[in-house]
Amino acid sequence: MRKPMAVANWKMNKNGEETRQFLRDYMAQASGITGAEAVICPPFTLLATVQQEIGSPAALARGAQNCFWEDKGAYTGEISAPMLKELGCSYVIIGHSERRLIMGENDEQINRKLKAVLQCGLVPILCVGETLQQRENKAALTVVKNQLDKNLQGLHVQPGQLVIAYEPVWAIGTGVNASSDDAQEMIACIRSRLRELFNDELASATRILYGGSVREDNAADLMAKPDIDGALIGGASLEADSFVRIARIIAHG
Ligand code: 13P
Repeated sequence: MRKPMAVANWKMNKNGEETRQFLRDYMAQASGITGAEAVICPPFTLLATVQQEIGSPAALARGAQNCFWEDKGAYTGEISAPMLKELGCSYVIIGHSERRLIMGENDEQINRKLKAVLQCGLVPILCVGETLQQRENKAALTVVKNQLDKNLQGLHVQPGQLVIAYEPVWAIGTGVNASSDDAQEMIACIRSRLRELFNDELASATRILYGGSVREDNAADLMAKPDIDGALIGGASLEADSFVRIARIIAHG
């Protein structure tokens, strides 16, 4: 019922030619992946290139890595949800830990961004997750629950219109992934919090992904868990071969 997802977060990587090469390689290898939805989130500057090269989102859906909460106006340097929709985006990553920790994004801003994305008819991929210190202090569950409560406050969301990614900060780009048991435990807690904040229907329909050093060799173990509905992939999504192989594992998981 929840179609699994393989989401590539390219972060601040790739130029136009590298993107075209990736898409050629991807399209040559990806036929037959029907059991998972593949999504690519390139930098803003490459969204038009992806749209030109791959017309149909059915072949490879697109997402952005961030957006602002207003639709238009005097907000120098910002990009709005309607602008992303025009470029063929279906998804927008919101609240990635790199934005929270490096750019200082706070929970209230994330809440406003989520509302803007939903208002525009796009699907947000809300990222939550604890730092290493918070995990060592046994505060991981409380931290993530707090993020959910503040970020999702006052949201009007229909089943299927929200995706959540659990990304423990200590697992991002480190090569050290959360164990599948720890990821399952947290993701089950996220689902049960969604049930409390919204309702059973929304909690059961929401796809919850794991992110943080996902690779070919750990994807199957993670995907075997009942609440893990896919992966948000950073480093291993930059090469088409490895992204396709992980997407295949997710499709068959
Ligand atoms: P890595 O897969 O490189 O650890 O990055 C994870 C991530 O931050 C995806 O959003």
